Amino acid sequence: MGARISKRAAAIAPSATLAVNAKAGEMKAQGIDVVNFGVGEPDFDTPGNVKAKAIEAIQSGFTKYTPAPGTPALRKAIADKLARENGLNYTPAQTMACVGAKQAIYLALLALVDPGDEVILPRPYWVSYPEMVHLADGVSVYVDCELEDDFKLTPAALRAACTPRTKVLVLNYPNNPTGSSYTRAEIEALAAVCVERGVCVISDEVYEKLIYDGEPHFSFAAVSPEMYDLTVTTNGVSKAYAMTGWRLGYAAGPAPLIKAMTSIQEHMNTHTSSITQVAGTEALNGPQDAVAAMVEEFKRRRDYMYGRFAAMPGIRLRKPPGAFYCFPDVSALYGKTIRGHKIGGDMDLVNVILTEGHVAIVPGGGFGNPNCVRLSYATSMERITTGLDRIEGLVREAR
Ligand SMILES: Cc1ncc(COP(=O)(O)O)c(C=O)c1O
Repeated sequence: MGARISKRAAAIAPSATLAVNAKAGEMKAQGIDVVNFGVGEPDFDTPGNVKAKAIEAIQSGFTKYTPAPGTPALRKAIADKLARENGLNYTPAQTMACVGAKQAIYLALLALVDPGDEVILPRPYWVSYPEMVHLADGVSVYVDCELEDDFKLTPAALRAACTPRTKVLVLNYPNNPTGSSYTRAEIEALAAVCVERGVCVISDEVYEKLIYDGEPHFSFAAVSPEMYDLTVTTNGVSKAYAMTGWRLGYAAGPAPLIKAMTSIQEHMNTHTSSITQVAGTEALNGPQDAVAAMVEEFKRRRDYMYGRFAAMPGIRLRKPPGAFYCFPDVSALYGKTIRGHKIGGDMDLVNVILTEGHVAIVPGGGFGNPNCVRLSYATSMERITTGLDRIEGLVREAR
């Protein structure tokens, strides 16, 4: 008899995003020209100053263990960044570095959630949240957010979802998959409910720099001293500095919580790579001009992709102000037929678009909303144009 997989591991759902990527990869390997709107990473290169510091770190032998919560220089850079850009006053001891923002969120859940505690997840949600809550023995409580509300959580819906077992709200803005963000007034109204009910917030701010119109990003912990005490701010360098492969994220929050998260990290992975920490320190402290150029290019692509979808029959969407995703509602196509394929739902549509149009997109069901599909515009304008031409051709064939 071979190894018996635990119930915990067996219950984990495969990632919808990775499944589409795998299929697109197979088609590419067969020589098919596939346009990939499935990936969630910037197509830009890591800035040169960041790479240079990492090379220097290797050559100077900075290749050994560091303190578990990160080097003092990096923790200071994190605290300085949060003060400078987010108006948040954390001491370096209230910050920690970890293996991507993903791990920061997971460590926060492990440090906050007891078995059976409820974690509120606005739906659509980022694919990893429910699985992380499950791994932390928590119970996910989903709150549906509607297209008419820009897929945003309302204070009334949040209040209605709270029970005596509610421990945490995980909020991500700008949002993956919807591209929505929140105004300061909206954040304040949600914070009022959290303070009233004593609900902690994991504020996932990885896309904070990718906002194209409307108000600038406003951090949850900046609302009030009461909310500051209830919030763990998580962020990272993946999206802002095109550093997905380096694996650096960070968290800042109340000192006892950061200490608890660090204790878990000590036994799990010790810390993220010493070289990555040097690179991340440079990304946070160094010149920021690469970010502005990237934001400008993303805005151009967002405007184009939104405009194309807005002109397609049977597609509903609102202009997404941030991140690099569009999340159109395609449910008007369900029940129709495209090139002999019956479209019963998001998976059927994604399959037809991949097999007939050679374009990879992600089914909304993976994010908890099967009426929608997700497209990332983190690819060149030329590829975006080609991909949308193919999608539009198929959508117009629906009968
Ligand atoms: C909403 C959201 N949070 C967190 C992350 C994690 O980013 P990383 O672990 O690369 O820092 C991602 C990456 O796709 C994301 O989309």
